Amino acid sequence: MNRVRIFDTTLRDGEQAPGFSMTEEGKRKMARTLAALNVDVIEAGFAAASPGDARAIHAIAGEIEGPIICSLARSTRGDIEAAAQALAPATRKRIHIFLGTSPLHREFKLKLDKGQVIDAIRDSVAFARGFTDDVEFSAEDAIRTERDFLVEALSVAAAAGATTLNVPDTVGYTTPDEIYDLFRHLGDQVERGPEVIFSAHCHDDLGMAVANSLAAVRGGARQVECAINGIGERAGNCALEDVVMALKTRSDAFGVTTDVDTTKIMAASRMLAQVTNVSPPRNKAIVGANAFAHEAGIHQHGVLQNRETYEIMKPEDIGLATDGIVLGKHSGRHALAKRANALGFALEGAALDRAFAAFKEVADEVGLVDDARLAALLAAQDGRGDD
Ligand code: KIV
Ligand code: ZN
Repeated sequence: MNRVRIFDTTLRDGEQAPGFSMTEEGKRKMARTLAALNVDVIEAGFAAASPGDARAIHAIAGEIEGPIICSLARSTRGDIEAAAQALAPATRKRIHIFLGTSPLHREFKLKLDKGQVIDAIRDSVAFARGFTDDVEFSAEDAIRTERDFLVEALSVAAAAGATTLNVPDTVGYTTPDEIYDLFRHLGDQVERGPEVIFSAHCHDDLGMAVANSLAAVRGGARQVECAINGIGERAGNCALEDVVMALKTRSDAFGVTTDVDTTKIMAASRMLAQVTNVSPPRNKAIVGANAFAHEAGIHQHGVLQNRETYEIMKPEDIGLATDGIVLGKHSGRHALAKRANALGFALEGAALDRAFAAFKEVADEVGLVDDARLAALLAAQDGRGDD
């Protein structure tokens, strides 16, 4: 299968992070945006976490058509029932069960031995299958789990009816080489039917979530869990826009596709910023304000001749309408003349020299010169030229 499913967890792992909590209305708006983006799965929340989260999942399940709607659940009957109840109105629903499998989680968090963990996986997945035939199992902290135990845990989950086996790098510890090798190993060793797929869920603690997710895809993962603007616990999750655009832009390297409508990426990023009041950093890949902006004169000159000199993607492919030219103290005459022209000022010769000198002074003072400021400056220059 050459299609990678995109599982969006903006509304669950993303919302769990400090500073990103959303109202029910905000979550519903975001879910509509994710449906327009055409993600495969929307993890709408964690039903047992709070009545508000359960209500938001229920509302999203009732109004969103297209993507599978999912709720997280611990491996307890109460959590699974809460997830099933919240998801009841959904046309396509998934229950996502997680349980820690690493020695640290078994010993210090769960206080369960290996046999008890295996029993809990078997029982909870089988119980969830009573509500839906789409059950995902996550071996929390899979990366720090002994390989043979991870193979056993995932094989038991598949035998009990899980159709997606998720391998989270819960603490963002792995490396691309290591996770590639792990997915190859799991693909060889985990007993499962042909309908079962592996999924990667990478955190960004060492800044490698996207690289690790892409390596997992090369290793055989056919679902990537990610969040808009890369939000999520601590340093965040794999950024949806990064992984999707990497798979598209470098299809020669990965040979797989997603069904995401990339022209809706910018709208999704902006909607999240609006709903959470947090914008991505200017230099964020794909959606940051600088991602398609060129201030330096040499770059501007290149881009004005042929955008590919300094751009590997088209802004319109992510739904961004821009010529990418930003005017600041590093900008050159070509860019100034072009923007002035667009604003209705034809500049040549001495008039361009004068305007350029005045523009540099203002840029030194204010940094970026937006259209309103530039128009005022050019109008003032026009007046001077007439004297
Ligand atoms: O990071 C993690 O392990 C998780 C699981 C609940 C999938 O978010
Ligand atoms: Zn996570």
